[in-house]
Amino acid sequence: MPFSIALAGKGGTGKTTVAGMIIKYLVSKGMTPVLAVDADANANLNEVLGLPVHSTLGTAREEMKKGQVPTGMTKDVFMSMKMEEAVVEADGYDLIVMGQPEGAGCYCAANSLLTGFLEKLAGNYPYLVMDNEAGMEHISRLTTRNVDLLLLVSDPSRRSLQAAVRIHRLARELQIGFTRSCLVVNQCKNGLPDAAKQMLKDEGVELAGVIPEDSTISDYDLEGRPTVEMPETSASIQAAFALFAKLIG
Ligand SMILES: Nc1ncnc2c1ncn2[C@@H]1O[C@H](COP(=O)(O)OP(=O)(O)OP(=O)(O)O)[C@@H](O)[C@H]1O
Ligand SMILES: [Mg+2]
Repeated sequence: MPFSIALAGKGGTGKTTVAGMIIKYLVSKGMTPVLAVDADANANLNEVLGLPVHSTLGTAREEMKKGQVPTGMTKDVFMSMKMEEAVVEADGYDLIVMGQPEGAGCYCAANSLLTGFLEKLAGNYPYLVMDNEAGMEHISRLTTRNVDLLLLVSDPSRRSLQAAVRIHRLARELQIGFTRSCLVVNQCKNGLPDAAKQMLKDEGVELAGVIPEDSTISDYDLEGRPTVEMPETSASIQAAFALFAKLIG
């Protein structure tokens, strides 16, 4: 199984941006192929990566549920084909988008095929990076389970740090089976205040490091350019890569 890294944290803290940076890091170090999983229903990791996405696992599941299976094809074969189609291939990594969660009704058959597909797919990659939606839903739904590294992302605000602490606690209580959990404080203007460091220490949350606020990220974002295309000399990329080198190797 791959070494898997899952992102978690409050909304807008930079989970997707950091996920993109991890993928960029792994690819630049030749730690490939990487499987990038976008588990946010409001998927946008592909934008950070600059990849077009035409279908998702959610679409495959929906089509099977609605019975939109061509004649002469079994449901299983159809579902496999649709799931394969949802894998976007890029240089050094592949991206799979989970898409919208299931609607009402029974999706058991489609879901078991989907789980099997994901497990088999993941087996082909030494590294898996999973971007998640904001909050704790994915932790309590146990979609984020058996991860090697649960990477909490926060901005330097107290509320965001508290949200990260709560996710850390919940993940521990639910015993989702992560090997290590630590926090990255992103969008830092002047490092992290001592009070914040103390709070994390009191809560037993390991601080992996900080990533500075970087106008290059905002500029790329505004221009609709993929963040992964930023030069490695950018302050945020430099800090992030140094941090990943310590965390991932
Ligand atoms: N270090 C940084 N410096 C400047 N801007 C940043 C930095 N990190 C992220 N941003 C910007 O902050 C915004 C939110 O980032 P991002 O989408 O990665 O957050 P998120 O946690 O994934 O959000 P969501 O909870 O909506 O999924 C984006 O516009 C992004 O470009
Ligand atoms: Mg996001």
